[in-house]
Amino acid sequence: MKNWKKNSWRKYPVKHIPEYPNKKELGMVLDKMSKFPPLVFAGETRHLKSQLADVVDGKAFLLQGGDCAESFAEFNPDNIRDTFKLMLQMSLVLTYSASLPVVKVGRIAGQFSKPRSSPVESKNGIELPSYLGDNINGMEFNEKSRVPDPKRLFKAYSQSAATLNLIRAFCHGGFADLQNVHTWNLGFIKNSPELKRFKELEDRIADALAFMEACGINSDFNRRLKTVNFWTSHEALLLPFEETMTRTDSTTGENHDTSAHFVWIGDRTRQLDGGHVEFCRGIENPIGIKCGPTLKSEDLINLCNKINPNNEKGKITLISRFGADNVSKHLPKLIRAIKKEGLNVIWSCDPCHGNTIKATTGFKTRPFNSVLKEVKNVFACHQSEGSYAGGLHIEMTGQNVTECIGGAQKISEKDLSSRYHTHCDPRLNANQALELAFLISDEIKKNSLYSKNADRAAS
Ligand code: PEP
Ligand code: CO
Repeated sequence: MKNWKKNSWRKYPVKHIPEYPNKKELGMVLDKMSKFPPLVFAGETRHLKSQLADVVDGKAFLLQGGDCAESFAEFNPDNIRDTFKLMLQMSLVLTYSASLPVVKVGRIAGQFSKPRSSPVESKNGIELPSYLGDNINGMEFNEKSRVPDPKRLFKAYSQSAATLNLIRAFCHGGFADLQNVHTWNLGFIKNSPELKRFKELEDRIADALAFMEACGINSDFNRRLKTVNFWTSHEALLLPFEETMTRTDSTTGENHDTSAHFVWIGDRTRQLDGGHVEFCRGIENPIGIKCGPTLKSEDLINLCNKINPNNEKGKITLISRFGADNVSKHLPKLIRAIKKEGLNVIWSCDPCHGNTIKATTGFKTRPFNSVLKEVKNVFACHQSEGSYAGGLHIEMTGQNVTECIGGAQKISEKDLSSRYHTHCDPRLNANQALELAFLISDEIKKNSLYSKNADRAAS
C-alpha cells in the first residue's frame, strides 16, 4: 500500500475523535498498549475474508449483531453467553430454513466508542460534553465523568480480551456442538410464536442428526458439527487506539488491525478525504461502510476504489441504513452504480439506525414494525435490481430488554422504562431478533438470485 502508514491518518481531518486534556498520559497509555498482545491474528482475518467472499457470490449469508455500545457496567459472562446463543439460534434458523451457511460476526469485544449527534448534552439547564463510550468517558451526568480518560482504554482492552476468551471457549469447547442445540434456548422466551417455530426446527434437526448418527456421521468424527467460527467487529472510530493495535504480519508484511477481525466506517466518518478512510485503506481486515441517505453514488464508488483498489472479494461490506420509507429512494441508484463499475461487495442491511425515534416518554426507541419494513423493502429492492441481499447488521441483545417497541410481546411506549439498559441506541431483544431471522429466511428463499445459486450447487 503506497504512502500509507498506520499513523498517516493523522494528516487528515477527522470527526468524532475526542480531545484528551492529558496528552502526556494518552501517549504513555498508547505506548504501553502497543506492546500488548493482539486480540486477533492475521490468519483469522484472512479466513474471515475468504468466508465473506462466499457471501459476495451468494453462497453464504452474513449475520452481524450485538450491542450498540458495550459497557463496563453490563460486562458479565451471562450477557456474553446470551448474545452468543442468540446469534447461534438466528444462524440456525437461517442455515436450516434457507440452506445457507451463515458467517457470524459479533458487534462485541471492542464495540465501545460512539459518534454522537451532538457534542453536548443538556439536563435541567446544565450542559456537559456528551457521553462518548466507556473506553473514552463515563455516562454519569457530571463534569468529572465526562472528561476523556486514557486509562479507560486499558479497561476496555482487558474487557475485550476476556470477552473474546470466553467466545473462543464457547466456539471450540463443545458448547456450540449441534447436538446441544436444545441448550441454546434463552430461558425467558417462553410461549412466544418464535420459540414454537424454533422448537419445531430443533426437532427436525434432531431427526437429521439421528439419521446421520445411524450412518456413522457424528461430532466425534466431524469437527464441523462441534465447533463454529464466530468473528468480532466494531466501528473503527477511535483511531489512536486502532493505530496502536495495528501490527505488521511477519509472514506477509501486511498490516492488520488486530483489535477485531472486521471493522467498519460509520455513516458520520466516511468522508473520502478524512482520516477514518485513510486509516482503513491500509489495513488488510474486511471493512464495512455504513451507507446512509446522504451518500452519493460517485462517493460510494470512490470509497470502494480507495479502500479496495484490487476489487478483492470479501473486502468490502456495504451496510445500508436508510430508514424503512427511504429505501427505494436511495438504494437502487447505489446498487446500479456498483454494478456498472463491476465492484465486488456484500450488500448488508442495517434496519436499526434509520428507524430511531424518540418516544413520548423521552426514551430513544425503534418501532419493530419499521425494522421489519426496512428489511422487506431492502430485499424487494435487491430482488428487482438483480443483486444479492447478503447480510443483516443489527443492534440486539440476548437479554430480555424492553428497548424497541412492538414485536410479538407487544412492547409499548409505556413498557420502555421497565428494562431499558442500553448505553446508547435501543436494541432488539431475543424475541424480536428471532422473528427477524425467520422473516429473512423467508425472504432469502424468495430471492431469485439465491435460487439460481442453490440450483447450481445442487447440479
Ligand atoms: C452504529 O452502528 O452504532 C452507528 C453509529 O451507526 P451509523 O454509523 O450507521 O449511524
Ligand atoms: Co447504534
